Amino acid sequence: MIVAESIKEIRAFVAGAREAGREPVGVVPTMGALHEGHYSLIDAARRQCQAVVVSLFVNPTQFGPSEDFRSYPRPIEADLAGCEAHGVDAVFHPPVEVMYPGGAATTVHVSRPAERLCGASRPGHFDGVCTVVAKLFHIVGAEAAYFGQKDYQQTVVVRRMVADLDMPVRIVVCPTVREPDGLAMSSRNAYLSGPERSQAVALVESLRLAGRLVEQGCRQASDVVAAMREHLRRRVPAGRIDYVEIVDPETLEGVETIDAPAVAAVAVRFGSARLIDNMRVDAPARSG
Ligand code: PAJ
Repeated sequence: MIVAESIKEIRAFVAGAREAGREPVGVVPTMGALHEGHYSLIDAARRQCQAVVVSLFVNPTQFGPSEDFRSYPRPIEADLAGCEAHGVDAVFHPPVEVMYPGGAATTVHVSRPAERLCGASRPGHFDGVCTVVAKLFHIVGAEAAYFGQKDYQQTVVVRRMVADLDMPVRIVVCPTVREPDGLAMSSRNAYLSGPERSQAVALVESLRLAGRLVEQGCRQASDVVAAMREHLRRRVPAGRIDYVEIVDPETLEGVETIDAPAVAAVAVRFGSARLIDNMRVDAPARSG
């Protein structure tokens, strides 16, 4: 496994892999602090691609001024060992100055799907995500890029960018990996106190509740959202609900009636940590 800190080095690695006939090339963009969720993406890339590149880069432009950019965990040695153990061929780990040299004046801005849900509570967040992901796509030039369903809005926004800007990369979305009690794995779970950690399971519980209600025939999104909010309010006294929504899987607009597959999405703040989760909900097929 090589570790590249410069754009030149990672491009040389990919060019060499292609010359050796190791195609397709897959890229897994991450901010490090790797856990089983990240490794599931790496394993999928390993199964489907001949050369696997993982980026480890805590991207400053996607954090708001009062967010956790400085305190975001950076366990680089453990991350490199994990990448090696999962058969990664190259890690791209650039310093901030390599990705953002002085004078950069270009931002990739996706409008509609990026303005809702997390985009509404984290202004500018998806500009930062899209800009760094576009840069990674240009730098690595992979045929396939792997993202987690856990950040559902991110997958929709990145797909929109790729389609609108004709980027020649296939976006592969992998299922959310969860802790045994159902909490979606996240580098930010480490911020939770003991009591917060046990309450955090209420996010997935509220999503499962939504799934059950829809399965049982509840079609009014507002009724489902009310039941989810009630569950969160009861189970998460330490948390502040950021949003609870049932949205269209493509546009991310709120739906009124659940008569086609939709996505239930929640965000809850625990102190300075903000946790998100989502799940597909689907009305059972009508018989006859
Ligand atoms: P990060 O939060 O490190 O996540 C990297 C990738 O891992 C994302 O695609 C995310 O959806 C996926 N992931 C995280 N937790 C997961 C879980 N429990 N199950 C499955 N996949 C999971 O998302 C980012 O970094 C950044 O925004 C990035 C795309 C790297 C741009 O900076």
